[in-house]
Amino acid sequence: MKNRRALVAGAGGFIGHHMVRHLKGKGYWVRGVDIKEPEYEPSQADEFMVLDLRKEDNCLEATRDIHEVYQLAADMGGIGYITANHADVAVNNVLINAHMLQAAFANDATRYFYSSSACIYPMYMQKSPEIGGLKEEDAYPADPEEGYGWEKLYAEKLCQYYDEEGKLPTRVARFHNIYGPLGTYDGGREKAPAAISRKVAMAEDGGEIEVWGDGLQTRSFTYVDDCVEGIYRIMQSDHSSPLNLGTDELISVNDLVDLIAKLGGKSLTKRHDTSKPQGVRGRNSDNTQLRAVLGWEPATTLEQGLTKTYKWIESQVAGRAG
Ligand SMILES: NC(=O)c1ccc[n+]([C@@H]2O[C@H](COP(=O)([O-])OP(=O)(O)OC[C@H]3O[C@@H](n4cnc5c(N)ncnc54)[C@H](O)[C@@H]3O)[C@@H](O)[C@H]2O)c1
Repeated sequence: MKNRRALVAGAGGFIGHHMVRHLKGKGYWVRGVDIKEPEYEPSQADEFMVLDLRKEDNCLEATRDIHEVYQLAADMGGIGYITANHADVAVNNVLINAHMLQAAFANDATRYFYSSSACIYPMYMQKSPEIGGLKEEDAYPADPEEGYGWEKLYAEKLCQYYDEEGKLPTRVARFHNIYGPLGTYDGGREKAPAAISRKVAMAEDGGEIEVWGDGLQTRSFTYVDDCVEGIYRIMQSDHSSPLNLGTDELISVNDLVDLIAKLGGKSLTKRHDTSKPQGVRGRNSDNTQLRAVLGWEPATTLEQGLTKTYKWIESQVAGRAG
């Protein structure tokens, strides 16, 4: 992809940082933009701008002379963060997404990728841990997660309108719990695989570990290398309506804890705290449409992905202690 210029918005964050690396590997010239620099290692972007993308002028600066826009910037975090900050999350993200679309259109970008989420799926379909996969068409009638999920669903609509009216071709993926090395693992915005890995890495063998909820809630998880590969494939495809980007390897949080404890070589007792937010009871991805459109789906097993993730978090925790 010589001479192709890509913008990764959110390049200081977890998936954006990996996306920059992926696009550099494909030969793109890459501009990274974020309100902050990457936390754990420098960006591989050719140019990195620190900009607040809630502001229209900054979005115009970010999208200048760019062909492909990868919009991964968002005010977000794990279930604890997004349930405690509905107003900030919804307002910040709607400003980022509306201004980024407008700016990419004004600057004649050729294509626009938007990172939506499984949080857009109706709450009424996710009341049991034994859940079948959520299909793309299950999104309506809408009943998404408060705050974060409603904004994601509305931003999907904005992308649809720009695409339908021929202003800007858009592509949308609904991510299902992305995890991997270089993801936030402490500070309050971390998600379950990273939070549990940190707790296991810090626990004494034979000790105790706190688990949010009763641990029976289920999820499927997607390794970050599969996520960036999927984003790229969706971006290059002709498919403009939202696609799931996830796996259908469903696991309960209790089994996730046991798996990570096994990887850490520790035997731990779980202490369940049911006063903590735990999100929906069950959530899984149906990849039928993803396979039909791309002839591809994420292939990394949870054990393979967590092995790499745990090793990275363990080394971070050890480095901090030392
Ligand atoms: N990680 C997941 O499991 C997951 C699941 C579903 C959807 N998503 C979506 O994928 C995208 C990337 O998520 P992530 O996991 O890398 O999160 P992240 O928090 O690591 O990255 C998001 C980045 O956006 C930046 N940002 C926030 N406000 C900004 C602003 N005003 N201006 C500029 N930059 C700003 C943050 O600083 C951060 O670096 C987001 O849109 C997120 O909603 C992620």
